[in-house]
Amino acid sequence: MNERPIVLMTHPLPAEWIGNDLDGFEVILEEGGAKGIQGKLQEYLPRAAGILCLLDDPLPESILNSAQNLRVISSMAVGVDNIDIAACTRRGIPVGHTPGVLTDGTADLTLALLLSVSRLLTAANNDAREGRWAGWNPTGWLGADFNGSTAGILGMGKIGSAVARRLAGFGCRILFTNRSSKPELARELNAEQVDLDTLLIESDFLCLHISLTDETRGLINGEAFQKMKSNAILVNAARGQVVDTKALLDALQTGQIRAAGLDVTDPEPLPPDHPLYQLDNCLITPHIGSATYGTRRRMAQIALNNLRYGILGKKLEHCANPEVYIP
Ligand code: DGY
Repeated sequence: MNERPIVLMTHPLPAEWIGNDLDGFEVILEEGGAKGIQGKLQEYLPRAAGILCLLDDPLPESILNSAQNLRVISSMAVGVDNIDIAACTRRGIPVGHTPGVLTDGTADLTLALLLSVSRLLTAANNDAREGRWAGWNPTGWLGADFNGSTAGILGMGKIGSAVARRLAGFGCRILFTNRSSKPELARELNAEQVDLDTLLIESDFLCLHISLTDETRGLINGEAFQKMKSNAILVNAARGQVVDTKALLDALQTGQIRAAGLDVTDPEPLPPDHPLYQLDNCLITPHIGSATYGTRRRMAQIALNNLRYGILGKKLEHCANPEVYIP
């Protein structure tokens, strides 16, 4: 019998994005679009050769235990904190991800959030729509100046560097933290690599671009907010759990910091009755950093390639655990 390899898809993708890429595979998708491995996907898991998942599909070791025939997990995301990577590596399962292609989209969205929050765009738009625009007002809707402000980048990877370049173009002084030293980037942007405390203390704008790990979970907590300037604006386009949500709420309510722009939250999605939505100094978008036509299509293409390569036993284009290839 010539059985086709089984692929589990946790969410549908447009047919034109998939093209012929899944020809030859038996694709199992929960009706109506599933979330996580459940229902029909759970049933097929023991026979699945590949999983094509999203960043909010949890794939802990308990799920891998039932997936004895799995040859690859391919995530349509750069961040893989939803997947037990160590457990995959122990089993020799490569995990595909999509670095690089979402750098510009996410950096643009970070700037969009920072500009919107710092120049009070939501409030100004609401005031105009709702009849509170009485005329040009010398002291109305005053926001922060970019030129001359200090921008702190927490995590100078691909996205952090792209944000730093944009902010340098706006005339900001750039400070950054990073695990490894980046003297060339510092020279190029006339930026300074500093420790976390200095970043917190000196930044007018603090942009988070670190991965979620055990070390970074809750890194921006009450103690961190105490060190920040009262005019500071926080932008998080990385992962919600890097910030302690309760501490952020307190900091925004008490004026410990001025404002926040959040593309990611903890929990995610943030429930509609969450008090953060009630604050005028907090703008929240639903994890749309990579949501441009081109970016999402490129992410899907890499994810499909990774999936196919993994099932066929070829090396993935972008692998989050390359150790699996070390004999
Ligand atoms: C990712 O790919 O990890 C991003 O958060 C998606 O926008």
